[in-house]
Amino acid sequence: MAGLAPLVSFVADRTVESWTGSGQTNLIDIPPEMARLTFDVILDTMLSGGEDFDRAAMQSRIKSFFADIGKMRISYFLAPDAYHASRPDAHSAHRQPLLDDIRRMVSRRRNSDRRSDLVDLLLQARDPETGQGMDDDLLANNLLGFILAGHETTALALTWALYLVAMHPPTTARIRDEVTEVAGTNAIDATHVDRLVFTRQVLSETLRLYPPAFQLTRVSRKRTELAGFPVQAGSRVIIPVYALHRHRGHWANPDAFDPDRFAPSAPQLDRFTYLPFGAGPRICLGAAFAMMEAVTVLASLVRAIDFTVVSPHRVRPVAGLALRPAGGLPMSVRSLR
Ligand code: HEM
Repeated sequence: MAGLAPLVSFVADRTVESWTGSGQTNLIDIPPEMARLTFDVILDTMLSGGEDFDRAAMQSRIKSFFADIGKMRISYFLAPDAYHASRPDAHSAHRQPLLDDIRRMVSRRRNSDRRSDLVDLLLQARDPETGQGMDDDLLANNLLGFILAGHETTALALTWALYLVAMHPPTTARIRDEVTEVAGTNAIDATHVDRLVFTRQVLSETLRLYPPAFQLTRVSRKRTELAGFPVQAGSRVIIPVYALHRHRGHWANPDAFDPDRFAPSAPQLDRFTYLPFGAGPRICLGAAFAMMEAVTVLASLVRAIDFTVVSPHRVRPVAGLALRPAGGLPMSVRSLR
């Protein structure tokens, strides 16, 4: 995984360049910038450049698709559980065109040279029991899953991290000192990522305070009991990750930003009080990738740029499909190079 760091670092440096190429201070809205960055990373690292895609068109389709799912989400609270037996995203008109784009790319790749990216790995994968490979439809569905699950979440983690860093100058200084000590002025590579210990702590604390996946849902397969409450078979159970991460019974001073909670010397956490990537059989498949990516990007950006939250903009998290800052996050960026 760490071997992909130089590719990520390249995309981060390109972003820095696009913000401050001419050297002056610029005003930018962080969430769409981070979404563009993480989208480029996922195409460059997993789909080897995604040269078959019109990136801007695909990103705008994904945005509309997420908006549709976001609207349907309210139904979780209002509609009977039976409604959710069908996938909520089955109703968005934007899903099929996305799948069609990816399926076209998959068919082309079946007959082209191997590149050892995720597409190749999935093309070669065989079911261990039947020996069958995946057809183009199944493969396209898997790839769409990675693209969807893998870019908006990481973009929001980075958005919140930049917000917290901008609000805490001592944290900014510690990240800069660490990056300079570990990597100097070089691009972040595989040998640096594991040594950026404090930068990783900042991201872990960001995911505690602002978990992009702020709640998880499950449907109970059988009649059972949870903390003394009866749960009927087929009931929807909501796991409130955001509330869990700020629970006074589990965390000291829970609303305070303190990356040292995650220091290697800090007491071990209870596994089920901290769930930014979920747990159990459906735990995030991309957690290691996401942390490698976020550490590389945060280190690269904070080393090169001074971020200031534009005042008097009030930053407030809003729970849609994922946890994002209401009304965006305008920041001024000043190059330190
Ligand atoms: C900071 C970034 C990320 C966060 C916070 C995050 C969070 C999560 C969470 C909470 C789940 C479990 C959902 C549940 O239990 O219902 C999940 C599942 C998943 N994630 Fe992530 N994720 C991130 C990045 C990524 C990346 C980069 C990828 C791919 C490259 C990815 C791929 C997936 C996939 C494929 C699943 C579904 C696993 C399954 O259902 O078996 N995620 N993610």
